[in-house]
Amino acid sequence: VISQKKMSSSKKMINVLMVSPTLQGHLNPTLNFAKRLASKGVHVTLAIPEETPHRFQNLNTQETNSHHHNNNPSKIQLEYFSDGLSIDHDRSKDPATFIASLETKGAENLSNLMTHLKKNDRSFSCLITSLFMPWSVDVAVSHGIPCAVLWPQASALFSIYYRYVCNANHFPNMENPNETLQLPSLPMLRVRELPSILLPSCPPYLKKLLMDFKPILDKVKWILGSSVYEFEEEILNSMASLRPILTIGPLVSPYLLGQKESEDSDDLTANLLRPEDSCLQWLNDKATSSVIYVAFGSLMEFSQKQMDNIATALKNTKKPFLWVITPQKGGAELPQGFLEEIKERGLVVTWCPQAKVLMHPAVACFVSHCGWNSTLEAVTAGIPIVALPNWLDQPTNAKLVEDVFKTGVRMRIGEEEDGVASAEEVERSITEVMEGPMAEEIKMRAVGLKEAARKAMVDGGSSDRNINRFVTEISGKFT
Ligand code: UDX
Repeated sequence: VISQKKMSSSKKMINVLMVSPTLQGHLNPTLNFAKRLASKGVHVTLAIPEETPHRFQNLNTQETNSHHHNNNPSKIQLEYFSDGLSIDHDRSKDPATFIASLETKGAENLSNLMTHLKKNDRSFSCLITSLFMPWSVDVAVSHGIPCAVLWPQASALFSIYYRYVCNANHFPNMENPNETLQLPSLPMLRVRELPSILLPSCPPYLKKLLMDFKPILDKVKWILGSSVYEFEEEILNSMASLRPILTIGPLVSPYLLGQKESEDSDDLTANLLRPEDSCLQWLNDKATSSVIYVAFGSLMEFSQKQMDNIATALKNTKKPFLWVITPQKGGAELPQGFLEEIKERGLVVTWCPQAKVLMHPAVACFVSHCGWNSTLEAVTAGIPIVALPNWLDQPTNAKLVEDVFKTGVRMRIGEEEDGVASAEEVERSITEVMEGPMAEEIKMRAVGLKEAARKAMVDGGSSDRNINRFVTEISGKFT
């Protein structure tokens, strides 16, 4: 065991470069890890594709520079590199072009940025990157620095992808949604509970990212997972001899961990939409554990039918609710007259300060798509989940919530329903979590995991020890 003193003296001059795609689900854990590293004396440079500055609310170089002026010298510095596309190119409409341009022009520009920074006395001990940008691993190799991957999803997902691309296990025919798969230390998974990137319907640009996974793993020294050892102990142990994952999470807002964010770190957030803080006042007027919080992350798009069914269910529960509806590209809208009908009982916003909402005493449960950040945030806040997953890792996360964490339930959707949960099913699952026979047990489990999450991140906790180990290893003094 390395003493704290030794640790801090060995950390002093460590510079790391982090890169993140400009996706909310990646930026949040990246920024939270950057803050965590900074608190351990590491100087972090966060480089993001140039398209973002105009979209960020709080993340800009000017505000980050203010970190230079306090007693705690600057530890997080922002840099931008171009992805090669014009600023008004709609990247979400055409992700294939975006990813291809990042791979060529983005790689070149990131490399140039690193050369430029080196000339200005900023050499890095490590590049911490995302598998969404697999090419960045080669950039690190070409600059002769080791590379870590920040894995922003469950360790269970890493284990599934690893076993798939490395042919470590037999996978069933993915055409049949009812086939099952038993992998070590995971519950039995039906094909439709697997991450959608493995299914035939997955778009080719995402399949390519999956296929890049294997060659990249050989060049990466650390896999840093935004999870907690105590949450996924068996899965992590089963991966230890194949490809160990160092859990360093939950990489959620310090607010969720009960650590009040300082003013300083508060201004460094990466909201791609402006949060409507007024919803916190609205929550203040509601009774303890009475409100249903409904939000589906940054990417979800609903069919009109699903939107209508959720609206009907919320109306029928007769309970207060806060519903985040981000601008829908598909054009689904609230049913006519809905807002007038529900009056004060419900509030609909386009984006909210989710960490603060989940920590609000009025919130009883979270109807969620089970993106990994939202899942971790709910677990860390001790809030039960009602899962309505859509794609990517979400169906598997929902399965983990129900069967492994046991902190929530999944909505049941029949074959003939075309992926849409009925109004009755939405209402039934909300009621099950709030007042069904299992409600108390689910809440107790949620509170238990909340404590485990906090313990992992305090001094000496499992994630804190892993972060210290990582910092020690990149410092090069104890390897
Ligand atoms: C994407 C994928 O969809 C998800 O499956 C994967 O695990 C991560 O990348 P996203 O859909 O945006 O992410 O969901 P999620 O991972 O839950 O991240 C959303 C983030 O936005 C959370 O940190 C959440 O706190 C934040 N958020 C969401 C807000 O701050 N306000 C809101 O109103 C809604």
